[in-house]
Formats: sequence, structure tokens, C-alpha cells
Amino acid sequence: MSLDLGPKLKSACDDSLHKAKMAWKAGDSEQAAQHFDAAAKLMLKWAEHATSRSQEYARKRKAIEYREFAGRLRELHNEQAAGAKLPAPPSSDEDVDAKQTESVGNKSELSNAVNSLIHVSPVTWDDIGGLEQTKRDIKYTLGLSLATPPKGVKIATFRNIMFYGPPGTGKTLIAAATSNALKVTSDGQALFFNVKVSGVMSKYFGESSKIISEIYGTARDNSPSVVFLDEFESLTASRGSDEQSGAERRILSTILSELDGLTEKGRTDIFVLTIAATNRPWEIDNAVLSRFEKQILIPLPDPITREAILRIQTEKRGFVVDCDMAELVKLTDGYSGREIERIVKQVTSTMISELNADLPDIIDKGLAQAKNYQVKVRSLTLRDFQVAAEGIRPVTSPEEAARYLDWRQDQD
Ligand SMILES: Nc1ncnc2c1ncn2[C@@H]1O[C@H](COP(=O)(O)OP(=O)(O)OP(=O)(O)O)[C@@H](O)[C@H]1O
Ligand SMILES: [Mg+2]
Repeated sequence: MSLDLGPKLKSACDDSLHKAKMAWKAGDSEQAAQHFDAAAKLMLKWAEHATSRSQEYARKRKAIEYREFAGRLRELHNEQAAGAKLPAPPSSDEDVDAKQTESVGNKSELSNAVNSLIHVSPVTWDDIGGLEQTKRDIKYTLGLSLATPPKGVKIATFRNIMFYGPPGTGKTLIAAATSNALKVTSDGQALFFNVKVSGVMSKYFGESSKIISEIYGTARDNSPSVVFLDEFESLTASRGSDEQSGAERRILSTILSELDGLTEKGRTDIFVLTIAATNRPWEIDNAVLSRFEKQILIPLPDPITREAILRIQTEKRGFVVDCDMAELVKLTDGYSGREIERIVKQVTSTMISELNADLPDIIDKGLAQAKNYQVKVRSLTLRDFQVAAEGIRPVTSPEEAARYLDWRQDQD
């Protein structure tokens, strides 16, 4: 990439803006929208040539403003009668870069917010029962992205993955294991940004698009890294509707341009994997969905997965199960991994409290006695599990579980 491309991009952008404004003046909202879109694209490209992070953001924000305005023009074009007055376009004549000092004041606040999203996860692939194909898919993606291709060969790899499925089926778990795997392969370099979209939206509302830009900026600086966008549907639920605020539109536009990888185009040395997770994929609009090259359904656990989860929760923790595993697998049909975990917790804690009912009396005799107390356990029976399962009902009904399968079918 040659360095003197910058000025050319800038003047091409100015040119598009000029055309956009001419069309706007003439009341041609469709033409104006097209030119504003073109200006936004050029501005994003120009942002790649920025010499500092704040300059990059300033240019990106401007690009987003143009893109939003184009969107608004199109909406008006569809809704209103011809000849209606168009809203004022965003300013373009001021020097974009010059405005940048104003946000420097809260710069450290911003990076604090971003740093608080960085997680180191102890979860490994072995902690995840079943889901073998999904695990393989992800390992393959990681491997391909990190491995060295033959000289001159450019391999397109996945950058954006979406997990969808009922609550408690292991989506967050897989994302965490992914980041952990990356960490091992790259000498502790991988960062895992655990971003609960609804949380960022409510906590930093007006600032949330800045936070997203900062996250991706930091992620790129620390490549390879993983950005995990949890509860992703809350981002796009009301896109295009009247209720959507400017801040929501901004954060969505920011994420879209990051998903497009515009800011890392041509940089094969940078690897930022975005994993989005949602329980309600049908609420995500198509423009966003199409950015995810891989959309993986994480369904309610099948018998093999349930057995693996049951073993992780019991045997791997040293508890002995005194019944046929197949019976437990049958009993937990329709339950998610999270609910199976709850059942086992219930079973073990009931068993322990029954066998160790004398513990409070011993504490009364002094804490020293407690150390000498040997906690009593017994093997777990089918009856124990049946009792616990009675009290814990699956949150996902069979109809709801089927809806995910239907949705997947509709996508093909
Ligand atoms: N395949 C699995 N193997 C082992 N444990 C599992 C599995 N699936 C779920 N669990 C258990 O359930 C818990 C919840 O899983 P997780 O947080 O990944 O669900 P999720 O799909 O992200 O749910 P949500 O959609 O509600 O965010 C995990 O902490 C784990 O204990
Ligand atoms: Mg989750």
C-alpha cells in the first residue's frame, strides 16, 4: 500500500461530497444518498491512512455520519412525497482531523472502559462436552488464519462467526475456549474482549460507538485477538424503526464497518476474530447477518453431548454415579447444558447436606473441630436425579427449540 494514496483518497472523498451536496440542493435524495455512501467508503479508506488512533476515529466517525445520512435520505425517499424538504446534510468543509483534541480528555476513561472488557479465560476445549463438529470448525478457522500460506497465495479466512441457539447451550463457553486456545498458540498475546452488547449500550450509551472503535483498535494492535459480542440481537433489534436513536444507529454502523474489516483490509498480518452470540437470530437484520461468513447453531444438547456434560459435572468432579448413564441421558432430554449443571449441583448439594447435617453442631464446638471433620459423601442414584429434575424445568420448550432449526432452514 503506497503512502501517498492518502491525499488522493481525501480529494476523491471531497469530490463525492461535492456531488452529494449538489444532488441534495437539487432535491434528488436518491442521487445524494449514493454520493454520500461513496464519500463514506472513501472516508473509511482514508481512515486507514491516519497517523494516530484519534485521527482514525475522527475520520471513521465522519464516514459513519455520511453513511447514516445516506440511510436517512433513502428512508425519506421511500416514505415522503416528492418535493418534501430534505434535512440538512452533515458538515464536510471543516477539517476533520483538526477537531480531534476534544476527546483526548476522556481518552484514559475510554481505554479503562475497554480494558475492563479484556478477559483471560481458564476454559479449555476439554471443559466443553460434545459439540465436536463445532469445536473442529473453530480450530480449523484459527489454524488456517494463523498458519503460513505458500508464498504468493492469499487464503480467505473467516473473520466473523455467529453462534445462535437456546440459552445455556455453551455459546459463551466456546468463545472463551477459543480465546484460550489463541493465547496458547501465540505466546500469551491473544486478548479476549468479552462485550455484552446490551451492557455497553446501557452503560456508555452515547459513547458506545467510541468504545466499539476503541475495542477493535486495541484488538488490532494486539492481534491475534477475539472480540466476543454477546447478546448481539440487542444491537440490531430495532434497526430502521423510529424508536432507534442516533446513538444506536451509530454503534450499529461502527460495528458493521468493523465486521467488514475495512480497517484491516490488505493487512494479512492482522487477525481479529469476531464471535457474536444470540438467542434470537431472527431479530437480526439481513445486512448484519450477511457479514457473518459462518453461522453456527448451538442447539439443545443431543444424547451424546448430554452424556459428556453429565460426566464433566459428576465424574470429573469426583462424584460416583450409581446408575446407568443412559437413564440420566434420557431424564435430561430437553434440558440445556446450564440446566443439567444446575440439576447436578442440586443433586450433590442435597446429598451432602443430608449426610453432613451434624456439621453446624460441630462448628458450635469450635472452628478447630471443623478441620478434622471428614465430609461424608455417597454415590448418586437415579432417584436423586429424578427428584432434582422435578424442581428444575427446561426454559426452552420443544416448540422454541424447533424455531432455531426452522430459522436455519430459512437461511439456506
Ligand atoms: N457443551 C457443554 N459442555 C459443558 N458444559 C456446558 C455445555 N453447555 C453448557 N454448559 C454449562 O452451562 C453453562 C452455561 O453455558 P454458556 O454460558 O456457554 O451458555 P450460552 O449458550 O452462552 O447461554 P446464553 O445464551 O444464555 O448466553 C456453562 O457454564 C456450563 O457449565
Ligand atoms: Mg452466553
